[in-house]
Amino acid sequence: IPVAPFDLVLFGATGDLARRKILPGLFHRFEVGQFPSEARIIGSARSAMTPDEFRAQVQAAIREFTPDTPTRGTVLEQFLHCLDYVAVDARGDAGWAELAGRMRPDVVRAFYLSVAPSLFAGIARQLEHHGMATADARIVVEKPFGRDLETARELNASLRSFFQEHQIYRIDHYLGKETVQNLMALRFANSLFEPLWNSTHVDHVQITVAESLGIEGREAYYDQSGAMRDMVQNHLVQLLCLTAMEPPSKFTPNAVRDEKVKVIEALDPVEPSDIARGQYRADKGGDGYLDHVGDPQSRTESFIAIKVRIANWRWAGVPFYLRTGKRLRARVSEIVVQFRDPPHTIFPNVGPVHGNRLIIRLQPDEGITLRTTIKDPGPGGFRLAEVPLDMSFAEALGADSRPQDAYERLVMDVIRGDQTLFMRGDEVEAAWAWADTIIEGWERSRDQPYPYDQGSSGPEEALMLMHRDGRRWRQIGG
Ligand code: BG6
Repeated sequence: IPVAPFDLVLFGATGDLARRKILPGLFHRFEVGQFPSEARIIGSARSAMTPDEFRAQVQAAIREFTPDTPTRGTVLEQFLHCLDYVAVDARGDAGWAELAGRMRPDVVRAFYLSVAPSLFAGIARQLEHHGMATADARIVVEKPFGRDLETARELNASLRSFFQEHQIYRIDHYLGKETVQNLMALRFANSLFEPLWNSTHVDHVQITVAESLGIEGREAYYDQSGAMRDMVQNHLVQLLCLTAMEPPSKFTPNAVRDEKVKVIEALDPVEPSDIARGQYRADKGGDGYLDHVGDPQSRTESFIAIKVRIANWRWAGVPFYLRTGKRLRARVSEIVVQFRDPPHTIFPNVGPVHGNRLIIRLQPDEGITLRTTIKDPGPGGFRLAEVPLDMSFAEALGADSRPQDAYERLVMDVIRGDQTLFMRGDEVEAAWAWADTIIEGWERSRDQPYPYDQGSSGPEEALMLMHRDGRRWRQIGG
């Protein structure tokens, strides 16, 4: 559905995220005709540059970060007409009046802050001061949204001095991923799963976001954050919420976000023995985490596994095991719902019969697999075998459909004014309140993270977290 014309100001327009994700995402939406050529994307950054110089930069970025197609060149020419550029000083007064002069009064206006969080408040203030923060304007901010509850509250307070909550779009790009949205479709557009989605039928849930890459180029930021702040507080908590939340009464921003907040608020405090933090070590192939950050004393975790309990009626006694880390054996994000074993076995001499396992693959090869038990074919007695009922989205929906990037969806939702896939202020604060208690616990303890091999599944202690409960992680990439 095409959107109305808009003015989108992109602060940090020459930055990495803008070049790799936001501008290519906008290009793809333009390519399919989702917005008209009267739309305007006004790049803004500190560097002095003419609009034509900015267009040349964007042209290079689109060529680098979008697939070549026979029509790309022509569409790109048209797309460049939507672009403009104004240099502003986020910490001073230069450029703001000029930017205000470029804004059109009668179109949707959005300000996308793809900049360091320390600049959010200053930019919001200038937008207000120059009359750009109108009642229908939208402001979009990227993570990290604070580094603890206190800083998140400060950020919320400074944004709310100039914008109302319904104007603030806090991005968690995991919510823009197709398969993450599909979680809601799977649960609430099918009648098969929801009746089983509770402690009566589910033994446990595993959520894995494994990465094979390290922290290249982001050492300073990462060493101040670690996996808990960088991934768990936001992306993994979001996946946990969508998996565990009650069905919202309708698919509206507040109905969905109310249910997510309830999950976060129901999280039990985590025992130190239910956490395994790791740090990848040097090996023959190269340096380890400590070499990368250049600090032999760093206690920051590049891996974390954590056992979480949701203290509510639906999930009482069902552990959710979360893990994420860098330099692991594969790049895999998936959610595994392990159903309970059948209560009774009627087949003699077949050994234990295992419960079904639903695997929701978020990336790569998005799809859903249901591990099912069947009779092993053949005349050799009655044996059982576990086989997958397998669905790959690429195959089911046609392999030629280009997978949509999260940013494409999210930027268009901002223009449409739909906050469903964005985090509300109280949600971010609730997630920090929970994460803070965990982080404070290990900061007090002075515990070192466990070393793990690059290309492995993380430290042994993470495996033990499940083994000691008589359970096993699904192998990363397996
Ligand atoms: C970001 C984290 O939010 O998500 C990165 O800061 C991480 O450390 C990235 O690599 C993972 O995103 P994706 O989409 O590649 O799974």
